[in-house]
Amino acid sequence: MEKTLPYSWYTDPEILERERERIFLPAWHYVGHAGQLAEPGYYATEVARTPVVVTRDREGVLRGFVNVCRHRGHVVASGEGSRETLQCPYHAWTYGLDGCLRKAPRSEEEPGFPQNELGLVPVAVDTWGPFVFANAGADPEPLPHALGSLPAQVAELGLDVDSLVHHSRWEAEVGANWKIVSENFLECYHCQVAHPAFSDLIDVSPEAYLLSTDGRLSTQHGPPRTIAPVEEVPRAQFHFLWPNLGINIFPGHPNFSIGPFVPLTPDRTYRFLDYFFGPDVEPAWIEELLAFDQQVGQEDLALVEGVQRGVASGAVEHGVLMSHSEQLIAHFQALTDAALAR
Ligand code: FES
Ligand SMILES: [Fe+2]
Repeated sequence: MEKTLPYSWYTDPEILERERERIFLPAWHYVGHAGQLAEPGYYATEVARTPVVVTRDREGVLRGFVNVCRHRGHVVASGEGSRETLQCPYHAWTYGLDGCLRKAPRSEEEPGFPQNELGLVPVAVDTWGPFVFANAGADPEPLPHALGSLPAQVAELGLDVDSLVHHSRWEAEVGANWKIVSENFLECYHCQVAHPAFSDLIDVSPEAYLLSTDGRLSTQHGPPRTIAPVEEVPRAQFHFLWPNLGINIFPGHPNFSIGPFVPLTPDRTYRFLDYFFGPDVEPAWIEELLAFDQQVGQEDLALVEGVQRGVASGAVEHGVLMSHSEQLIAHFQALTDAALAR
């Protein structure tokens, strides 16, 4: 049987440092959606522990910057807003949405003040449909390369991502390592045991519930147990884009949720999930799906925190993987291991 990663990797701060440098810094991260950005406007986020601000100017041009003031390092923008400039709260240096330093109080008294060299440092940003991604690494690969077959697989299911409307964001902090949260997402071996409502809706038997990988993408296909003829989305499709992005699509009306598993400390993970629905989906159906998903989420929360307590004990060195049902975890671990060894 294949082994899991060493359990020490789920608690060791040095491993987390290496993951940040070798896995998270070079990766593209989902940071939000186009609806958050007024023209003109901005929102502040964080990517691989780098503060990032995403802006859109009057012409609709999307840009990203390291959200750190070039004066003495205060974080410049916070939250989100609709305005033409970003002003640092410390000494009021003011930047345009194109990152240029517009105004630094008393700079006219500084001989040779290099104003045009003191713009915000750029960060790569790009979009897939309404979804905004950022990459704080030194030499980012193009976003479409990183997404691989994800957009095609979503389109093939019949979902037009451009027509989706953002509904709400759910946020949580989980007491488990980001890899435990990811691995829990990557198998449905636990569904029958731990998710009764989910298993009533989706056929989680190994014959029906299909698993596949394509590069950094892992996909789970779950047919519904009963197919109502009006349903636009014929099956559940759950995607995981290594290193830490989860996407959920449930059968029924057009629905889509997307969000990362962000490491805070070796044993804490921040999660957010942006829910999107088709423009004509009934509010009652949306509420039902959200309640269902929250229920499954609560069940998973207890499971991953239980795993963290177990692996953190140090009493056992590693676990084992089921060759069929946990093949996506094996894939995740191989990618993680290879990146850390580089
Ligand atoms: S640190 Fe931003 S203006 Fe001084
Ligand atoms: Fe689960």
